[in-house]
Amino acid sequence: MAHLYPWLKLAHMALAATSVGLFTLRLLLWEWQGARPGGWLRVAPHVVDTALLLTGIALAVLWQLSPFALNWFGVKLLLVLLYIALGFAALRFSRSAAGRRAAGAAALLTVAAVAALARFKPF
Ligand code: HEM
Repeated sequence: MAHLYPWLKLAHMALAATSVGLFTLRLLLWEWQGARPGGWLRVAPHVVDTALLLTGIALAVLWQLSPFALNWFGVKLLLVLLYIALGFAALRFSRSAAGRRAAGAAALLTVAAVAALARFKPF
């Protein structure tokens, strides 16, 4: 299994970048077009995010990381849940442009913290 690690990690990081890119694109298109973007932009993020989750689980299994430990990984998972909730708040449940922008900005800040925790593993 260990020989898969570099590829798994590369895939996970590429999927993470794609996920954030698609989310940002949906926020911007909604801003510019005044309507929620549909079509492939509604479907693709689910595929990417499922693959992101699966590669993350595979990495955690490889490193035998517990989701309940109070280290960078446990905190990262909590922040991933917050990112998902804020994403729903912005793209599905927002009732005004101001609410959508606030939730969208908070989601982007949260996912930046997720990436920083994963990169620097400070504790
Ligand atoms: C928004 C979601 C996510 C983002 C943006 C993200 C981002 C990243 C990034 C950038 C790295 C590489 C850090 C480095 O440079 O060393 C990483 C590593 C890792 N991620 Fe994620 N991730 C996300 C979700 C997940 C999930 C859901 C899991 C587990 C269920 C997970 C588990 C891991 C593990 C175990 C590593 C460590 C790999 C290593 O450093 O050897 N990630 N993540």
